[in-house]
Amino acid sequence: MTTALWSPTAAGDLKLQHRLVMAPMTRSRATPEGVPTELTATYYAQRASLGLLVTEGTQPSPDGQGYLLTPGIHTPDQVAGWRRVSDAVHAAGGHLFLQLMHVGRISHPTNTPHGRQPVAPSAVAPAGLMFTASGPQPMPVPRALSVPEIQATVEDFRLAAAAAIEAGVDGVEIHAANGYLVHQFLSDNANQRTDEYGGSTTGRIRFAVEVAEAVADQIGAARTGIRIAPGNPFNDIAESSAGEVYRALLSALAPLDLAYLHLVHGGDEALARALRAAWPGTVVLNRGGADITTRAADIETGLADLVSVGGMALANPDLPERLRTGAPLNTPDRATFYGGDHRGYTDYPRLETS
Ligand SMILES: Cc1cc2nc3c(=O)[nH]c(=O)nc-3n(C[C@H](O)[C@H](O)[C@H](O)COP(=O)(O)O)c2cc1C
Repeated sequence: MTTALWSPTAAGDLKLQHRLVMAPMTRSRATPEGVPTELTATYYAQRASLGLLVTEGTQPSPDGQGYLLTPGIHTPDQVAGWRRVSDAVHAAGGHLFLQLMHVGRISHPTNTPHGRQPVAPSAVAPAGLMFTASGPQPMPVPRALSVPEIQATVEDFRLAAAAAIEAGVDGVEIHAANGYLVHQFLSDNANQRTDEYGGSTTGRIRFAVEVAEAVADQIGAARTGIRIAPGNPFNDIAESSAGEVYRALLSALAPLDLAYLHLVHGGDEALARALRAAWPGTVVLNRGGADITTRAADIETGLADLVSVGGMALANPDLPERLRTGAPLNTPDRATFYGGDHRGYTDYPRLETS
């Protein structure tokens, strides 16, 4: 039933033994300076049999941070921390793409290193609360980025991609999903600009395309992936014309020949099929919450080339072996998803080897 998962494939220049990918997952266990630790290296190396691991969202700049204790990739110490992680993953036979995540308005000043007001396409506060050191707080009205600041933010992505390669990762994934900065530009409600970065479909997709072009130009298209979540309302996003916007986005990105498109399936089967048809390259599909048989079927029907798994990979360091042999899976412990120590991080048991 999961046969489709086990044939070799490729993403960019990477040769992969099977079709499973570890989905990006924020774990909030970096140092206050945004440096991944030895424990983080152990966590990812334990999961190296997943083949391609996409890291937790990692901020390209101080403005890009929204949550407590997330890692960055814009200081020398952060680069050194990620070097430990990539060396450990490579030594264990895995491959690592680092997810570049700029949160935009999904932030709170007390969670950032410089304590500044969040930035966004427009000065529109998101609904919802942000967890801070003093408990959950409303997210403030963000400051609208000026055009020169947007261009500087594109450069932040470029420099962060270069830093990630310096840290030894195999590539980067641009986070254009789940209501963070790039997704905010694509949306109707967070982007109320009337200049060249808003308004029309061409305006809304401009920032995403410029980020992808800058990253691909810097590190090579074969080392650049992008994650989108069309129609996903998470983090107070509204998209009235997701089909039109994402079709335009994919047709602008297709000529770049990126390593992969990481598509978060939002439940709209027709839209997912249309976007798959519009993408000439590799598609990694994340059908959240689905069982493994359903995910494997997405490869059989041609909707996906690879499938990413979040919770299953978090809780099962030896997931491919368990799935191949039909062994039972550990259950993810939600209480230890974000923050804390090794518990719920590096202590999920492997199958008995005796
Ligand atoms: C603890 C946790 C943290 C997550 N952090 C991120 C993240 O940093 N970036 C991202 O794109 N998605 C993030 N996600 C979403 C997952 O990548 C995935 O889309 C989601 O878990 C649904 O897929 P699944 O059923 O395979 O877990 C996170 C999910 C979880 C459970």
